[in-house]
Amino acid sequence: MSSDALTTQSGLDPAKVPRHVAIIMDGNGRWAKQRLMNRVRGHEKGAETVRTIVTASREIGIAFLTLYAFSTENWQRSAAEVAALMRLLKNFLVTERDLMMRHDIRLSTIGEVERLPEDVRATLSETLSLTAGNRSMVLTLALSYGARAEIVRMVRTVATDVLEGRISAESIDEKRVSQGLYTRDMPDPDLLIRTSGEMRISNFLLWQIAYSELAITKTLWPDFSREEYLAILQDYQHRERRFGIA
Ligand code: FPP
Repeated sequence: MSSDALTTQSGLDPAKVPRHVAIIMDGNGRWAKQRLMNRVRGHEKGAETVRTIVTASREIGIAFLTLYAFSTENWQRSAAEVAALMRLLKNFLVTERDLMMRHDIRLSTIGEVERLPEDVRATLSETLSLTAGNRSMVLTLALSYGARAEIVRMVRTVATDVLEGRISAESIDEKRVSQGLYTRDMPDPDLLIRTSGEMRISNFLLWQIAYSELAITKTLWPDFSREEYLAILQDYQHRERRFGIA
């Protein structure tokens, strides 16, 4: 089905589809707890939701989808949970190759990927290379990502440029700052979705979401569905975006 056909069928206006949707996927642990299951089961179910939402995004015609898969803070969880998340990530990077190739999706990452275990990095690098030529959608996984660390990294590069005389302090502008971030090649998110009802940003894309529309749902990530995603997108299409201009 073409993206126009899907957007029309779902009541979405193809002309107003957000270019970039970013998602804080939260609530896997609570989903498992409610069912007296191990937290890892919640992450496993969450990985299935990732597949559903990636597929729906591509069909709707979203150009950039960015998912908060592992934060810098997540390293502090138990060794068993971190290992399970790494196993799920590695598994996803292999099992979803077919989906990414069929749907012309390019994989990308933001974050300190060098901190990931060697075997995960190797698998990641294979999937990045395999999908590098795909053009219809960019799927970005935030891995060992923290926005403050990203900003610190950018400040260091800008400071070095000034110190070594490549640029003057006066010439630093918003464009130079944006260029120093992991997200340099993508537009800012139009829409930021957070599941599980928490009213927090949790160190995600702090600079980039300055003018993003926010959608927070109480639904836990493993229960988040294509239908609810479409409803959020419909609501987004009725909003009037002002970008600070009256
Ligand atoms: C939050 O749930 C979610 C995460 C820690 C990361 C998201 C991970 C996945 C969706 C699974 C694997 C990802 C991929 C890309 C295959 P939480 O544990 O913080 O939930 P809680 O707040 O209810 O405890």
